[in-house]
Amino acid sequence: MKVTTEWFNQCRFAEEISALFRAGRGDWAPPREIDALEPNADMQVTVVTDGDRMIGFGVHYEAPQWHCEFLYLLYVKPEARRQGIGSLIVSRCAEIARQKGHTSVKLGTMPTNDRMHALMARAGATQFAIYYQLSA
Ligand SMILES: CC(C)(COP(=O)(O)OP(=O)(O)OC[C@H]1O[C@@H](n2cnc3c(N)ncnc32)[C@H](O)[C@@H]1OP(=O)(O)O)[C@@H](O)C(=O)NCCC(=O)NCCS
Repeated sequence: MKVTTEWFNQCRFAEEISALFRAGRGDWAPPREIDALEPNADMQVTVVTDGDRMIGFGVHYEAPQWHCEFLYLLYVKPEARRQGIGSLIVSRCAEIARQKGHTSVKLGTMPTNDRMHALMARAGATQFAIYYQLSA
């Protein structure tokens, strides 16, 4: 198993990641109205591979106004779950945040995403915000 971090637009798995994002919209990925995911050089991707196969990824970027690395997407392939890969990607993001001079990783998840809540609780994270939506 190998963990690498690179710019999203230079990642050989960029297309696969974009396809997984499209398939996951409204479920684990942000819904359609938020934005699209175009491989670009503003975002980094931390990829976990097993041989030639990508088994998990995190898409993240620096959010200086929040003094953090923002983990925008996190996904582990179903067959590779519960082996610590999601946690590994989150802690790699914390390492990257520290290298950039920040003090945290931040991410959002749906209230119903129990696995993600369990993962973050296990990592020792605290909840710091709740988002609301009012139809306009
Ligand atoms: C959420 C997700 C990233 C977790 O990845 P993972 O590699 O399975 O997570 P880990 O193995 O690091 O699990 C860490 C801890 O989280 C908790 N956890 C993870 N999956 C769980 C599950 N299905 N049920 C209960 N607890 C769970 C456990 O406490 C686990 O530790 P343990 O296995 O030692 O008990 C993965 O399930 C996934 O990709 N889901 C679909 C996409 C998604 O929801 N992404 C997050 C959007 S913000």
